[in-house]
Amino acid sequence: CGIVGYVGSKQAQDVVVEGLRRLEYRGYDSAGVALAHEGSIASEKRAGKLANLERAIAEHPLPASTTGIGHTRWATHGAPNDVNAHPHLGAEGRLAVVHNGIIENFAQLRTELEAAGHALKSETDTEVAAHLLELEVVAGHDLTDAMQRVCQRLKGAFTLVALDGKDPSRVVAARRNSPLVVGLGEGENFLGSDVAAFIDHTREALELGQDQIVTITADDVQIIGFDGTPAMGKQYHVDWDITAAEKDGHDWFMRKEIFEQPRAVADSLLGRRNASGLLELDEMRLDDSELRDIDRIIIIAAGTSYYAGMVAKYAIEHWTRVSVEVELASEFRYRDPILTRSTLVVAISQSGETADTLQAIRHARTQRSKVLSICNTNGSTIPRESDGVIYTYAGPEIGVASTKGYVTQLVACYLLALYLAQVKGTFFGDEIHHVMDQLDEIPQHIESVLAEADQIYKIAREHVDATSVLFLGRHAGYPVALEGALKLKELAYIHAEGFAAGEIKHGPIALIEPGLPVFCIVPPRGRDHLHDKMLSGIQEVRTRGARTICLAELDDETIAPYADTLIGLPKVPVLLQPLVAVIPLQLFACELATVMGHDVDQPRNLAKSVTVE
Ligand code: G6P
Repeated sequence: CGIVGYVGSKQAQDVVVEGLRRLEYRGYDSAGVALAHEGSIASEKRAGKLANLERAIAEHPLPASTTGIGHTRWATHGAPNDVNAHPHLGAEGRLAVVHNGIIENFAQLRTELEAAGHALKSETDTEVAAHLLELEVVAGHDLTDAMQRVCQRLKGAFTLVALDGKDPSRVVAARRNSPLVVGLGEGENFLGSDVAAFIDHTREALELGQDQIVTITADDVQIIGFDGTPAMGKQYHVDWDITAAEKDGHDWFMRKEIFEQPRAVADSLLGRRNASGLLELDEMRLDDSELRDIDRIIIIAAGTSYYAGMVAKYAIEHWTRVSVEVELASEFRYRDPILTRSTLVVAISQSGETADTLQAIRHARTQRSKVLSICNTNGSTIPRESDGVIYTYAGPEIGVASTKGYVTQLVACYLLALYLAQVKGTFFGDEIHHVMDQLDEIPQHIESVLAEADQIYKIAREHVDATSVLFLGRHAGYPVALEGALKLKELAYIHAEGFAAGEIKHGPIALIEPGLPVFCIVPPRGRDHLHDKMLSGIQEVRTRGARTICLAELDDETIAPYADTLIGLPKVPVLLQPLVAVIPLQLFACELATVMGHDVDQPRNLAKSVTVE
């Protein structure tokens, strides 16, 4: 969900709605705004995208006010309808709350409130918090005290932002395990789930810790812990280019972000070698002796980041001989994983806020394992709670389906693998140089794939009627197949599956029927017969009627007889091939979804960063 709060001298409605527009990628099941007005709350909320709310406000304008809060929702408790949309009000309509996260003991609190005669309108856990807070302010506590008292009673993960109609001078928020940052303005202050909420107004931000309550007024920001002890936030400057949050002539953020990948990869590689040619990862924070003792690595991540982790396994094991497991973040801590001091846990998260991943690293740290994160969002929770971090420099990723986030995660994974090889001495200096040089050529290679975008778009348009698409890959191409399938599910809502090409003969081949489109990611020709084995897999599906779309090296003439459609890839080593092979699959999914009439940036049911477990 996306959350905005404002106190200042501008019209709060405009500031809040504009903030919500920038945060809409975090959830778009419903949206709402609440303003302090003449001792009570003026509010409007609507199911569906923000545009519905904007239409409602245009028809029935809200009164002028310079204090307000807003919310754009990714539904958890309660269906995404008007009633369940945020803000939620207390029984007397004096107090409004927006919320991100899950209040785990809400059923019990709700029963208590109902027994005391409260009638709750929605099915949400949020409304319970609104009623509890209002009881406290009606009893005479100011909103900050009220928040502190209510937080003591709430279990779970939440960000709550509250507004008291009788006290328009302040907006109060509480944060536990769910994102919230403060924007510092002149004579105005802001709250947001991330800095995008207020980037139009200020670039000075304040990072909050866990279990803290922040009170913003027009001129002041006060932070206390849930226990009332004063606390300080950490101030930082947001150095995004504002155009990074604009579509820049593209129809979708996603398409723009696909085309930004050469730059994103180059930026993520920048400054990693020192004058003597050694790799340096400045935010690493784990010293060489700690890394030398690592005998096992567990990578945890969700969604696309998980598929980046699968590629990392191939690279790290090959280059360092340290064994690597890759695990879905949501599964990790619940199966009682074996963790020791010599286990390195690597968390990959574009947003740095994914709750499943966050809880997994917390579990790992309680077991005394070291945690290193790979993250694209400065100041987010996961890197802050890690022992070290490798930042990627993709810039803000707005499209819900990850693209430049993914390729830069791959880059960070290769850097980590090379760095470990350097520390452990499994690679000689020259070899590291050699791979780094190959990585430095990747931006150009991606450019060359992007230059052929029209070919991919044409293929996509030929597939508007497809009901199922398969993706096959081997070695590092296997995770790419999975990622290609995920993109298609996310954006085009059609059945898509990725398989290890060698595995299809053990079952999935039964799915093949005449005309079924099958993408085949062909590894480069090498000494290991991988390429030939892939050809066998392609033949197996083709003789059963599949229509093959093969991604292979440009000069690979062996593939033509087996390909109904051929997409050329630049020549790169097999381990680095995901960086170039994924590009056509991103373009394909983006274009297919576009011609099918879907919202590419905001696919149904999804959210960019899922901050609930
Ligand atoms: C959500 C998004 C996915 C993303 C996943 C992990 O489910 O819809 O696109 O891959 O979260 O996100 P993270 O920010 O942790 O990389």
